[in-house]
Amino acid sequence: MPHARRLAAIASLALLAAVSAYAGPLQDDLIARRSRVMEQLSPETLAIFWSAPTRVYSHDVEYEYRQDSHLLYLTGIDQEETILILMPGNPVRREILFILEPDPRREHWNGHRLTPAEATAQSGIETVMTVKEFEPFIAAMFSRQPRGDAAEYDPFLSALEAGRAKLALLLEPQQNLSTPAGPARRFALDLRERFFGFTVEDARPIVSNLRQVKTPYEQEIMRKSVAISSQAHKAGMRAAAPGKFEYEVEAAIEEVYLRNGAMTWGYPSIVGSGPNATILHYNRSSRRMEPGDLLLVDAAANFQGYTGDITRTYPIGGRFTREQREIYEIVLAAQEAGMKAVSAGAPTRDVQAACDRVLRAGLVTLGLVIDPEGQQFKIWATHGAVHMIGMDVHDVGNRRAFEPGMTFVIEPGIYIRQAALDALPRTAENVAFIEKVQPMVDKYKDIGVRVEDSFLLTTGGLERLSSAVPRTVDEIEQFMKKF
Ligand code: GLY
Ligand code: MN
Ligand code: MN
Repeated sequence: MPHARRLAAIASLALLAAVSAYAGPLQDDLIARRSRVMEQLSPETLAIFWSAPTRVYSHDVEYEYRQDSHLLYLTGIDQEETILILMPGNPVRREILFILEPDPRREHWNGHRLTPAEATAQSGIETVMTVKEFEPFIAAMFSRQPRGDAAEYDPFLSALEAGRAKLALLLEPQQNLSTPAGPARRFALDLRERFFGFTVEDARPIVSNLRQVKTPYEQEIMRKSVAISSQAHKAGMRAAAPGKFEYEVEAAIEEVYLRNGAMTWGYPSIVGSGPNATILHYNRSSRRMEPGDLLLVDAAANFQGYTGDITRTYPIGGRFTREQREIYEIVLAAQEAGMKAVSAGAPTRDVQAACDRVLRAGLVTLGLVIDPEGQQFKIWATHGAVHMIGMDVHDVGNRRAFEPGMTFVIEPGIYIRQAALDALPRTAENVAFIEKVQPMVDKYKDIGVRVEDSFLLTTGGLERLSSAVPRTVDEIEQFMKKF
């Protein structure tokens, strides 16, 4: 182990010991998360992580604050204008947090700002400065004139002098050259105009890949979050009845979030009845439900920064019609096939392929698709069946194989919309297809079904976190009968 590394390791042990005197399980987890990020950055790096900006809702009213998920993952701090610096090569202070300075007048309007001691207690970070000190700190560091003892910042400063230092940021994905640079890229460009001796590195893959595998602490929060959402779905099912409005179901669901300390949703609730069930991100919730409708509800709470993702589709009159049931059974069977394809080491695309096989075969059987091999069935099965969940409902990570600790959904769906047929270009092949399937589209028109559960893979196997919500045709009809 090189000398500086050994020193850093010793120093980090000392830091752990010092902090754990007042830290809880979350703080222990945060400290470990940052250590794992720093293990993957070179000791010659200075990494910066910014909080999310506040957003205007209307005039002088802001949206409820939503912290940047990466910053929340690394600090547990849910306050605006927070910045984290990691310097993995520092022998002592490897983590520095910048927070808003106290301001009694602003705090009268907008609430308490964390004191340095509170920020330390929440994050496990010992060194806390005010956000006003951030720019001077950076300017001093990059001009190699830090305040205090310069030895504290070796080997970053030596690397800067030798032209080998690294500035690591969460660089915004850049679609093409004409896309305007985001704030992190602009910061990097500005700094490179003024200072020398460093290259810029993207810290995003490091943090994203860590976030993809949940720690035991995170797994517990995910279980609780999905348990609240499951209870909320059942409340929604109880509230659904002919003559009621979609928003009444939404209200019943979101009431359960708040009553259980989940202060908001993980994503806006989708409550779509009748033809609205075929709109993937329907968010108006304004229709009065009619006898014979199917209701599609896609909703989940944000509990302590973590969200599940659950969809149930059910007949508001309590019983599926024959056509609704035929579509439902295909979607359910697709989900079951997807579940069987999950195991540690299996690629996520195997789950998609397993769902697709069942969806395609089922749609061919119903006469809604004529090609038993290709992608024609995607006209009705329009979205992917797998994504990760966590701090973001479509959580970060890459398409690597499943590992214990990953949380994800399996969510096949079928949506029969006349508009999908009407939008097809009139090629000879499409005209023949339309002619063939039109009678079946008339039969199944406006049926939208999605079945979506939240899962955790553990070394013991697949855990369906949302298993408390009725899912099969029989379970749903039984449950609806009681209310
Ligand atoms: N709730 C968004 C999705 O199902 O992916
Ligand atoms: Mn989903
Ligand atoms: Mn969903």
